[in-house]
Amino acid sequence: MSKSSPSTSLRLDRFLATVTDYSRSEAKRLIKNGDITLDGEVLSDPRQSVDADADVRLRGQSLRSAEPRYFMLNKPVDYVCAARDRRHLTVLDLLDEDNPERLHVAGRLDIDTTGLVLLTDDGNWSHAITSPKKQCWKRYWLRTAEPIDASAVARFTKGVFLKDDKLRTQPAELEIIGPCEARLRLSEGRYHQVKRMFGALGNAVVELHREAIGDIELDEALAEGEYRPLTTTERDSVWSDG
Ligand code: URA
Repeated sequence: MSKSSPSTSLRLDRFLATVTDYSRSEAKRLIKNGDITLDGEVLSDPRQSVDADADVRLRGQSLRSAEPRYFMLNKPVDYVCAARDRRHLTVLDLLDEDNPERLHVAGRLDIDTTGLVLLTDDGNWSHAITSPKKQCWKRYWLRTAEPIDASAVARFTKGVFLKDDKLRTQPAELEIIGPCEARLRLSEGRYHQVKRMFGALGNAVVELHREAIGDIELDEALAEGEYRPLTTTERDSVWSDG
């Protein structure tokens, strides 16, 4: 029995974008097409609120599974974190599981980023990781094109302005471990955030690897492309406040 997860209400379009790999705009289109139902009724308003554990259906198919599943995967380069892609393999192609299409990624990585990816069919759980309000920490190892100036530590602590974003980034912890090598801990998950933060300093990230999400560390026994179920301790760590 999984530890009971706090139930959250979400806008319908956000709910669909959380529990599936459809984007918000694709979700809106599905809603407009009348493809989304709850208790047999068509849901037509993307702004309507639904419980994160509601049995919302897409063309009659439940988006929930009987027993929620939780996996960690060591993502190789050249795989995309999406349900389908016309040109690339997706992380779901690495899974040998029933109904892999019901799983979604809790916190995407870019195609050229490696490391920890969490997959689940529990929308409440992934929301606790990806919701900006939860400020879940992620730790990355990275290599840069140019040497990292020591002043980057203070600049990232203070926050930097990313191109096209109005808000300064939240305080982030940078540990410089070599001239062009560092670890970065972030509590946000903005689009291409690590690369854009270094871009704001006039540097470029040439290798990026996610080592941890909250208290869940990438299992060193997993080779690139391998995955395993989360332990109950890893799964439940998402609900702790620390
Ligand atoms: N930040 C990035 O720039 N890319 C990722 O894949 C993850 C975080």
